[in-house]
Amino acid sequence: MKKILIIIAILFAFLGSTYALYTYLMQIGVDEGYEPIQPIHFSHKIHAGDNQIDCKYCHSGARSASMAGIPSLDVCMGCHKTISEYEGEEDTANGYTKEFYTKEIKKLYQAVGWDERHFKYTGNSQPVEWIRIHKLPDFTYFNHAQHVTVANLNCYACHGDVDKMEIVRQHAPLTMGWCVECHRKSNVNTESPYEQHYEEVHKALAKKLKVDKLTVAEMGGLECAKCHY
Ligand code: HEC
Ligand code: HEC
Ligand code: HEC
Ligand code: HEC
Ligand code: HEC
Repeated sequence: MKKILIIIAILFAFLGSTYALYTYLMQIGVDEGYEPIQPIHFSHKIHAGDNQIDCKYCHSGARSASMAGIPSLDVCMGCHKTISEYEGEEDTANGYTKEFYTKEIKKLYQAVGWDERHFKYTGNSQPVEWIRIHKLPDFTYFNHAQHVTVANLNCYACHGDVDKMEIVRQHAPLTMGWCVECHRKSNVNTESPYEQHYEEVHKALAKKLKVDKLTVAEMGGLECAKCHY
């Protein structure tokens, strides 16, 4: 993949201006607002908003891994063995009635093979294929833990008000320009225990650049190889 990147880069340089490359790269792959219909209607507004379930309870990978991950149906059943009917608020104007939501919970039972009358699994299960919404091209590298645990960024900074979304949609453009812009204006979290063994490096570099706080960009966050294989 690197070879292709280099060829593209050279091509653009050849065409005359790095500015053209820059503006081009700033706007590729914009899928902002992408909001597919999922096999089970899963409301983040109801789970993360009304019921205050922590994002990382379901997306535990975000803490320590590159992928945030989608919870397995076992995680769902931890609560839904006992929550078999929806009793919360309705939004009748949009067709979100109690009956609608309860039917979606039954789809979960169908998928995991849960016999609610006898309170046991039947053994007949079928996977739920959630449609992926956020997706960077394969030649890019993004790590959740680096941003969530090291930089201590909130999910909302990149994903918007998910706790108010009845259906999740892509909030940010996920372009290179979007990544780079934030790296230019954000400081490295020097308080993080993960950064502490770089303390001397930070001090020396801040002194050299004559700044109080280093941005991610100044620490190398604009280097091609950090985000590209
Ligand atoms: C009870 C479990 C649960 C909780 C709590 C939860 N999510 Fe989710 N999340 C899911 C499931 C299941 C999906 C896949 C279905 C969908 O896209 O709605 C998902 C999908 C997503 C997606 C889209 C993934 C993709 O395909 O790109 C994002 C982003 C997301 N969640 C962020 C959050 C944030 C931020 C919070 C906290 C405000 C949160 N989630 C809380 C279960 C949960
Ligand atoms: C920590 C507990 C918990 C987990 C985990 C959980 N739910 Fe729920 N779920 C709830 C609560 C609470 C409600 C609202 C019940 C009410 O208001 O009567 C709900 C409501 C629902 C509903 C109806 C509203 C809607 O979102 O459409 C569906 C369907 C549903 N859950 C599916 C899932 C699925 C699928 C998973 C796993 C990806 C899951 N739940 C994980 C607690 C949970
Ligand atoms: C710095 C920006 C940023 C932050 C902060 C962030 N995300 Fe993401 N998230 C992304 C990007 C970019 C992608 C697409 C990654 C890819 O395709 O490799 C993504 C993808 C996802 C996905 C789908 C793919 C996967 O990794 O499983 C889920 C779910 C998700 N994020 C949940 C969360 C949750 C929950 C939090 C907070 C705990 C969070 N994100 C914090 C930028 C962010
Ligand atoms: C909301 C702001 C924000 C956005 C958007 C963002 N980042 Fe970051 N990123 C940070 C911060 C802050 C750090 C520094 C973490 C630390 O303290 O080490 C960082 C660090 C990184 C690092 C490690 C850099 C190094 O020098 O070791 C990589 C790689 C990275 N981000 C990739 C990405 C990619 C790829 C995207 C876009 C898909 C992206 N980031 C979007 C804020 C952001
Ligand atoms: C902070 C992360 C980050 C850094 C640093 C970065 N990129 Fe990117 N780059 C991305 C992301 C994310 C995409 C995919 C975005 C999209 O498709 O819109 C991308 C897309 C590209 C593409 C477009 C490929 C295509 O689909 O046509 C090229 C070429 C590229 N980058 C080259 C570079 C070069 C050369 C550098 C160093 C000067 C660089 N990138 C630095 C994150 C980064």
